[in-house]
Amino acid sequence: QNAQHFAAPLLKWYDANKRDMPWRDCGDPYRIWVSEIMLQQTRVDQATPYYERFMARFPSVEALARADRHDVLMAWEGLGYYSRARNLHAAAQTVLEQHGGVFPKTYDDIRALKGIGPYTAAAVASIAFGLPYAVMDGNVIRVLSRYAGIQDDVRLPATKKRIQELADELLDRQRPGDFNQAVMELGATVCTPKSPDCSTCPLQQSCSATLSGKTAEIPYKSPK
Ligand code: ADE
Ligand code: SF4
Repeated sequence: QNAQHFAAPLLKWYDANKRDMPWRDCGDPYRIWVSEIMLQQTRVDQATPYYERFMARFPSVEALARADRHDVLMAWEGLGYYSRARNLHAAAQTVLEQHGGVFPKTYDDIRALKGIGPYTAAAVASIAFGLPYAVMDGNVIRVLSRYAGIQDDVRLPATKKRIQELADELLDRQRPGDFNQAVMELGATVCTPKSPDCSTCPLQQSCSATLSGKTAEIPYKSPK
């Protein structure tokens, strides 16, 4: 279960199969940040039209910072969870006031912005700046717990910690942003919650869950 068996086939699959998304491969931390905030509670196909409209309205972090709060909330209409929009606006003002309008380039400075937790900080740091931080969301938890055959309750903090450590270990240091997006993409399109499509999966040959016939049991979630 080393990088050779995981990252190499995964990245090859990603290069051939990645979906087009308007924020992909743009290299702009502002655009990547907004997309990741939207994608936290909204699916890619749902979020895309909102994303396009938001970017047309607020094309830069400075434009967002200087915008009227009411206009920002209006642009968010339909996406729900309005605290996300309020935090985006506040964080844009912080970038303008404390970083001279330049999006911060270190994990700690990104993480310090309002509304940015460990997931979003790792996503922006890796995708926009190529920094070696592995993301962990529901898709990553599912892919990695199946791949490594982790049968412990994924709701437990100790299990999450183990999966984060595994992600850190498997992360491709040359292409951390693509690696993170590839795991999420695999989880969204192939390693789906119900009946994953293992026959088309680039990880099939070394995936513990498929080799042991346990894809239906992993990830294990205790009843709430
Ligand atoms: N889900 C959240 N962010 C994503 C990304 N950058 N690529 C694919 N799925 C995602
Ligand atoms: Fe998921 Fe199946 Fe791929 Fe394993 S082989 S990672 S269970 S899709």
